[in-house]
Amino acid sequence: MIRKFLFAAACGLSLFAVAAIAGNDDDDTEHMKHMNMEHMKMSPKMSDTRQEVDLPSPMRTHMLSHMRGHAEAIAEILAALAKGDGAAAAKIADARLSMASPGAAACKPNAKSGEFGEMPAMMASHMPDEMRALGLTMHEQASKFAQEAAKIGPGGDMRPALAELSQVVQACNACHAAYRLD
Ligand code: HEC
Repeated sequence: MIRKFLFAAACGLSLFAVAAIAGNDDDDTEHMKHMNMEHMKMSPKMSDTRQEVDLPSPMRTHMLSHMRGHAEAIAEILAALAKGDGAAAAKIADARLSMASPGAAACKPNAKSGEFGEMPAMMASHMPDEMRALGLTMHEQASKFAQEAAKIGPGGDMRPALAELSQVVQACNACHAAYRLD
């Protein structure tokens, strides 16, 4: 936290210095404004409004490794669709992203009871309920995608399945826009 503050303070100071050197010359001022915007883009945390979720270290590792698994699954799904293999895409989504996948357990409403095991129960107790609801939406959407992908016959229309897949990725993004780990 302190490091982040110092970093933000240092950025603020350097912007101040840059603005002072720029003086009143109009062209320069425009140029500096542009540079400041570039600078903001490079430091997203300066305007970060995401809610911080405080996970103990082993759970944090566990969750991030799940996340990388999610991203790999999306890549493999796209590769299967590129080959026209809806059945394979459906299988990957079912096993790794859907409501039936192991990663969905911690997001299910009754996870805290321990019904799905100790790790999901611990994860569930550390995540805000709203965050788990966003997670559930993503897993439900992945199940919908799997159903749609399974229907693609040889040479069939991919568009309905792709539309569902885009909703899956939007559900990933909705949570990423709202929460961070630190
Ligand atoms: C319920 C919330 C939620 C959902 C849904 C979600 N994520 Fe994440 N994801 C997070 C959080 C929180 C982080 C940590 C971000 C941070 O601290 O900056 C993260 C991080 C990641 C990372 C970085 C992993 C690392 O090693 O740093 C990847 C990749 C990722 N998510 C992919 C996905 C994909 C793909 C999906 C959808 C299929 C998805 N996530 C759905 C919450 C979510």
